[in-house]
Order: sequence, then structure tokens, then C-alpha cells
Amino acid sequence: MSTAFEPHDPTTPPVIWLDEVGSTNDVARDWIATGAQHGCSVAANKQHGGRGRRGTPWLCPPHQGLAFSVLLRPTFPKALWPRLSLVAGLAVLEELQTQGLAAQIKWPNDIWIRDKKICGILIETCQDWVIVGIGLNVSVTDFPVELRDSATSLALEGVTMLDRAPWLLAIRQRLLELTALAENEFPALLASLRRHCALSHRRVRLRVNDAVMEGVVLGIGNAGELRFWHNDRELSILQADEVRPLSAVLS
Ligand code: BTN
Repeated sequence: MSTAFEPHDPTTPPVIWLDEVGSTNDVARDWIATGAQHGCSVAANKQHGGRGRRGTPWLCPPHQGLAFSVLLRPTFPKALWPRLSLVAGLAVLEELQTQGLAAQIKWPNDIWIRDKKICGILIETCQDWVIVGIGLNVSVTDFPVELRDSATSLALEGVTMLDRAPWLLAIRQRLLELTALAENEFPALLASLRRHCALSHRRVRLRVNDAVMEGVVLGIGNAGELRFWHNDRELSILQADEVRPLSAVLS
């Protein structure tokens, strides 16, 4: 189902909460043609076509996850838009941390707690817009067996505040604040990302195109790339799949 965007108070971007959609990213994309505003958001109790990065499905039992998309209309050049991928992760990370959770960024923008994924982010673009799709595991306590060791949720981390709407509003607020800083204050945002990088100084296996590589993550570079020590040389990795740590932090 897709719903037309209806204009609201210009100072407070609306949040539309739907019961079931294919993907909230698609609903947000449809709004672009109907006069969307920067920051407007759509959430759904259930997605039957929720998707993750690289075409993977994003599955979450109805009502147990926070699935939402925020439309951003950046005022800075498109060449800098890739920063928003990291900025979105940082917004979720900081909000989880304010609630006392020891969250970390698993580059580029998964959020991990104790090396388990609690949130995934899918960034898409359309014309002058960026669609930030965020999936946060909220009250899921029974993950499918293949995810049991690699996924967690707010409930499993002991959080008692499991109302999804306040989480959405807080994360979106932070996302809008950080987006406003992404052009001119990016070094400060990078510093925060680096402090909370789950992969730094760890031995990691990852896939770049068809090549599987093992090496040590040196950190996040100035453009947000992964600095990776592999076969006695440093690589700058812009995009990788199946990133898996093989060790704890190396001394
Ligand atoms: C990933 O980890 O691969 C990204 C997952 C992103 C899931 C969210 S849920 C809300 C939005 N709608 C989608 O279809 N995907 C994103």
C-alpha cells in the first residue's frame, strides 16, 4: 500500500504510522512526487517486503520492531551524500547510548551491542532526496535459530521502555541534527564514530566483490572508508559485504 503525503506544520515533520506496507522506504519514495518535506517519516507495524542492503530481506515479527523511513533533502552537494550513511548509524548509536546501552557501529552503519546486531540501516536515493530506512529490533525475544547468536533487541538488552513511537521520534530528532552538521562538522562526527567503531584493531574477514580477505581493521578514514591492513599493505575499502570480526581487540 502506498499513501500520499499530506502537508503538515512546516516546523514539525510528520510521522505517518501505517499498519502494513511492503517497505517503508517505498512509501517514503512515493511521497517525493506528492510534496514531501525534509524529515517526514513513515513507520509500519509490519512490512511484507522489508529489505536490507544488497537485496537481502529484512524480517521482523509484526509490532516487535521499529521499521521506519525518514526522507531527507540535503542542502549540500551530492558528492557528500555518502556521509549520511555513517551519520544515520551515528544517530541511532547515540540515541541507544543515551539510554545506557553500550552500542557500537559495525561499519558502515549496522549497530551492534556485544557484537550482536540490534539495528540495520538501508540508505536509498531518489532525485534530490535521501531515504533513510531504519530497522531496530525492539521487543523480539525469539530470533530464528540462524540469527540467535548474531542478533539482539532492546528487550534482550534489558530495556524496559519498549514503546516504539518515542524511540522513533528521538532517533529522527538526532538524525536531523546530525544531518545539519554533516557538511561542515563531519570531522567531529567522524571522531565520535571512531570512538565507537566495533571493528577497530580487530582481525576481520570481509568480502569485496568476489574476493574474501582477512586482515586487521585500522579504523575509519577521513571520508568514512574502512582502513584495512591486508597482506602487508593498507587498503581503503568503500564497500564490503559479510564483514565478520575474527578476534577481540588486538593489543
Ligand atoms: C540491513 O541491515 O541490511 C538494513 C536493514 C534496513 C531495514 C529497514 S526497516 C525500515 C526500512 N524499510 C525497509 O524495507 N528497510 C528499512
